[in-house]
Amino acid sequence: MCGITGYIGYREACPILTEGLRRLEYRGYDSAGIALIADNGGLNIYKEKGRVSDLENSMAGKDTSGHIGIAHTRWATHGEPSAVNAHPHVSSSGRFAIVHNGIIENYAVIRKNLEQKGYVFRSSTDTEVLVQLADYVASLQDSDTVTVLQKVLSEVVGAYAIALLDREHPDRLYAARKSSPLAVGIGDGEFFVASDISPIAGYTDKVVYLDDEEIAEMHCGDSLHVVNLANVECRHEIITVPENLGKAGKDGFDHFMLKEIFEQPSCLTDCMRGRVDVAGKTVTLSAVREHKDRLLAAERFIIVACGTSWHAGLIGKQMIESFCRIPAEVAYASEFRYSNPVVGSSDVVIAISQSGETADTLAAIELARSKGAFIYGICNAVGSSIPRATDTGSYIHVGPEIGVASTKAFTGQVTVLAMLALDIAKEKNTIDDRTYAEMIEELATIPEKMRVVLRTNDRIASLAKMFTYAKNFIYLGRGYSYPVALEGALKLKEISYIHAEGYPAAEMKHGPIALIDEEMPVVIIATHNALYEKILSNVQEIKARKGRVIAIVSEGDSTVSAIADTVIEIPETVECLDPLLVSVPLQLLAYHIAVCKGKDVDRPRNLAKSVTVE
Ligand code: F6R
Repeated sequence: MCGITGYIGYREACPILTEGLRRLEYRGYDSAGIALIADNGGLNIYKEKGRVSDLENSMAGKDTSGHIGIAHTRWATHGEPSAVNAHPHVSSSGRFAIVHNGIIENYAVIRKNLEQKGYVFRSSTDTEVLVQLADYVASLQDSDTVTVLQKVLSEVVGAYAIALLDREHPDRLYAARKSSPLAVGIGDGEFFVASDISPIAGYTDKVVYLDDEEIAEMHCGDSLHVVNLANVECRHEIITVPENLGKAGKDGFDHFMLKEIFEQPSCLTDCMRGRVDVAGKTVTLSAVREHKDRLLAAERFIIVACGTSWHAGLIGKQMIESFCRIPAEVAYASEFRYSNPVVGSSDVVIAISQSGETADTLAAIELARSKGAFIYGICNAVGSSIPRATDTGSYIHVGPEIGVASTKAFTGQVTVLAMLALDIAKEKNTIDDRTYAEMIEELATIPEKMRVVLRTNDRIASLAKMFTYAKNFIYLGRGYSYPVALEGALKLKEISYIHAEGYPAAEMKHGPIALIDEEMPVVIIATHNALYEKILSNVQEIKARKGRVIAIVSEGDSTVSAIADTVIEIPETVECLDPLLVSVPLQLLAYHIAVCKGKDVDRPRNLAKSVTVE
């Protein structure tokens, strides 16, 4: 989703800003732009629809001088993707330029008022009202820029992270946030602003995360000055972030997605490091240790998440219920936040999010907190908004995920949920010693078994070629495999644009079976587990209607193999950890089909990596 970067300092701003935009590309965008206050004091704006490389081409040979600037990658919400709607937006007088993430909900009213005062809007965006309103406020009285921003931001309803240039103060960069993340990097005589850490990484490891309704003023030679909308000075701890945070390369893989699929064995080792102790036969999450009383007293767990993280939540629910014997529910964060849910102080809400910035998940957390629930976050992005908004939690520690389609974050989330369920179950005495020990041993073998699964890559790549014709796919699973079927279908949809549906396999006969014919590929998860015989019947039902069955089976299976058109074998594990292995061939299948169809796998159309608007 939209990305912001800004710079003020002794270096040329343009190369830093374009590099920052490239690092933000993974979030998904449709246009990009830069504003620079040039060495001669002029304000130069460059904007293009399309890629950052298109923007760079359009700037070739033009004046890109200046030591202060702001830049943006836009993911359209109000107004089509176009150069006019791309940020930065400039006020009518040419004094202010702004970039903005988020949504101004009352923009229409503000725009109408300003139009009545003679302001002419150039774009269809909600953002432009911010900069025009700043112009209007500044025209009323001689105020400093921070005061202008305080008045503007007090009038708007909605979410914002902004960076602002004021031509009358070309030695100062301004930034502010509410419900949309913004980090300020503090270098030696220079400042960086960014919507996530990636544009800052490598320039400085000193970072301040602004809080809601705070405005930062950056002036070289001075320390960072932060005030809130009521003009109260806000002091912030400067956080030192790890040097490699936010930097990532493809390491020889064709795409980030493929690299991230292959990284999963080592990511899960990192995720379990210091937590799963095979020799000592323990699973320990520090958050469970620190908040044991609160977690053990929980009468119910409510998992809130979106998309892939919601699928991980469906698996977590089954683990929590089966090991801890506590009721667990899973809600789409976007539905939960508007559903007037029955939540109270005896509930623990688990918020799952790779990015830690998903607007709906953040809103669900706020709602649950207002009703007294204890909030446990499961996130990947260190220092992001969700870990800061929760009472406690566990990072999944799988490293930056750049491919827009989530892969290693999903398996990391499932692994943390397994550890969480086991740790609580042990503390509550709801798991017997044998099962607990077996789970620990199995968890420890998962990375190696995943490596075995990854050896199917070439076969899946050949298989994918046979399915590029398909317009639809069905994915089926039962029990723990049902959420994996949903996830497999989501992966295919996202990157190949083939319509795909995931169903609980037994639900087929209640309607969707009407879709089956010789054209319909059906991916069935038929590994050895308690429902194996049942799923076998489901495979028969599909074959009887001439569906083309691709079955994921356990090593050595001969029964399903005899009926299915194609089988992909994976090592056996305990049922609840099966999703960790089964999801890998499904990720590879989606990846290779998308590659065969020539799609932009890492940056699928219309999608954003961090969904920071609702
Ligand atoms: C799918 C995908 C999305 C995200 C969803 C939630 O591949 O990545 O469905 O899972 O947007 O994002 P996070 O986990 O960052 O809250």
